[in-house]
Amino acid sequence: MNAFAYRDGILHVENLSLVAAAERVGTPFYCYAAGELERRYRALAHAIAPARASIAFAVKANSNLAVIGVFAGLGSGADVVSEGELRRCLAAGVPAQRILFSGVGKTAGEIGHAIACGIGQINIESETEIDLVAQEARRAGRVMPVALRVNPDVSAGGHEKISTGRKTDKFGIAAEQAPAVYGRMAATEGLEAVGIAMHIGSQIHDVAAYGAAFTRMAEIAEDLRARGLPVPRIDLGGGLGVAYGEDETEMPLEGYGRLLAELKARTGAELTIEPGRWLVADAGVLVSRVITVKQAGNRRFVVVDAAMNDLIRPTLYDARHPVWPVVEAAEEDCHPGTVAGPVCESGDILAVDAPLPDLAPGDLIAIGKAGAYGAVMASSYNSRLLVPEAMVWDDRLEIVRRRPSFEEAMALDSLPDWQAQAGAA
Ligand code: LLP
Repeated sequence: MNAFAYRDGILHVENLSLVAAAERVGTPFYCYAAGELERRYRALAHAIAPARASIAFAVKANSNLAVIGVFAGLGSGADVVSEGELRRCLAAGVPAQRILFSGVGKTAGEIGHAIACGIGQINIESETEIDLVAQEARRAGRVMPVALRVNPDVSAGGHEKISTGRKTDKFGIAAEQAPAVYGRMAATEGLEAVGIAMHIGSQIHDVAAYGAAFTRMAEIAEDLRARGLPVPRIDLGGGLGVAYGEDETEMPLEGYGRLLAELKARTGAELTIEPGRWLVADAGVLVSRVITVKQAGNRRFVVVDAAMNDLIRPTLYDARHPVWPVVEAAEEDCHPGTVAGPVCESGDILAVDAPLPDLAPGDLIAIGKAGAYGAVMASSYNSRLLVPEAMVWDDRLEIVRRRPSFEEAMALDSLPDWQAQAGAA
């Protein structure tokens, strides 16, 4: 079953029409299908069950409390990269012990807070971080479980800006340095070295990339163990690709699950994965209303009320999201339309030459596969209001992040005294 499907000619999210949803929330807004989030989590959990691997949802893909809450309810842990994400996970009911903290530049304040909350693991990404975490752990009177992020030097990922596992990327420690750094980590008071971690990139379609990286991780673990260093856990990161376009395929879950099971058999380590995109991308759309349609040369521009500040992926990564008219149209009635937002930049394009029917001001469209790295990357550029989010369960809709008022949006600014006085004079 697909969470977004046409019924009686209208695009529905689960059992609610997007026309009704748009009336209730106002456009633009993100709309998530709770049932789809659950189905995807269960499918992935099933695929990795033979490896007895656990899931730590990479919250960076979608950190709405209600989304984290769905996964927390299904037993998921979380992978966080900031104090903000950590606070959201705790508020949404993820047990602290099931939270792990990654990131190439964690501050002392963030580390101290994470330790005080009692999170389960910190992934160390640089040598100086060993001392920083140890110092904060000793200050808190605790022993902090830490894993070392190593760089398996496998190139993977859909776009230059989201590939992370190459030697020249900023993340992790080079594999050659792993024994020395891991040894130092294990010998540091206040730390308990519990394993190694990797993340080779995002939007990975080829299971062979994981095959190569997992083998490298097994070798690194074996080498460390041969030196008398315990490696009870291995964290395999995220990166599972989804199909944005019809020419793309999703990461095949069976093949991925099999690789994890092999790694488990070979190392006996406790395995964790950190998927983000795969769990949430297909469960969300960005709903927008047409403002105007104009012809520029031979290009038809459909100008809508959503923009690059609401969904930056097409502008930033040339990502191609599908666009669906909310009122169903026959294929033969569709012709290329370029969906553009109102922001004053020529890069404010949400889709290039998407097959769309004739559209008029007021018509609704839905930009598909927008549940991952959509709302979380939104900004208020052009002083547009931060985009709201709604969640649908069957035919029930809840606004899970409301649109701020203009007063709220401005409330964080203030005038310096001298300007305020000049204004009063
Ligand atoms: N773990 C770590 C350490 C990561 O850096 C990431 C993503 C993940 C897990 C989750 O990866 P996923 O399963 O979602 O591929 N904004 C970009 C994606 C950036 C991904 C950054 N790291 C986009 O919109 O495509």
